[in-house]
Amino acid sequence: MYQTLTFYHSTVRWLLLASLIYGIFRAFKGYYSKSGFTKSDNAVRHWTATISHIQLVIGITLYSQSPIVKYFWTNFKEAVHDIEIAFFGLIHIVLMLIAIIFITIGSALAKRKQTDNEKFKTMLVWFSISLLIIFLAIPWPFSPLANRPYLR
Ligand code: HEM
Repeated sequence: MYQTLTFYHSTVRWLLLASLIYGIFRAFKGYYSKSGFTKSDNAVRHWTATISHIQLVIGITLYSQSPIVKYFWTNFKEAVHDIEIAFFGLIHIVLMLIAIIFITIGSALAKRKQTDNEKFKTMLVWFSISLLIIFLAIPWPFSPLANRPYLR
């Protein structure tokens, strides 16, 4: 169960990054060329938010199963000073929750904006901030906080 969850959580990360980057690219292009917000733009907006919610559900389930997280909460006083354990126990979840909230707000606000240009701008701003947070909070093999492989 734990291994399966880690596999899916690691893989969905790439799907979310691809969708988010593609969404930002389309929003950027649409905003500066002042083009219309098409059905495809709307689908990318919608699917990016949906993939982030799928990752959230996998993440919460993984959080409840992870031996690292268990160790963090049972040995809080010592574990909080160990950067790798504190990363998975607290830093990763807090930053990722903020990022997913940003994607959700950005997607919902863009949907409700009156003009196409406002829709692109809203998507561009909220998705870009979220991408930055996600990039910092992923345990990349080169991260100074915690390291996990690119693929499971
Ligand atoms: C944008 C959302 C997220 C992304 C892109 C993301 C990405 C990742 C990646 C790449 C890993 C390393 C997987 C591996 O071991 O190969 C990881 C580990 C982990 N993530 Fe996330 N994550 C996200 C959100 C969350 C959330 C919201 C939670 C909790 C509610 C969470 C909990 C965890 C836990 C507990 C681990 C490590 C568990 C362990 O090694 O025992 N993640 N995450």
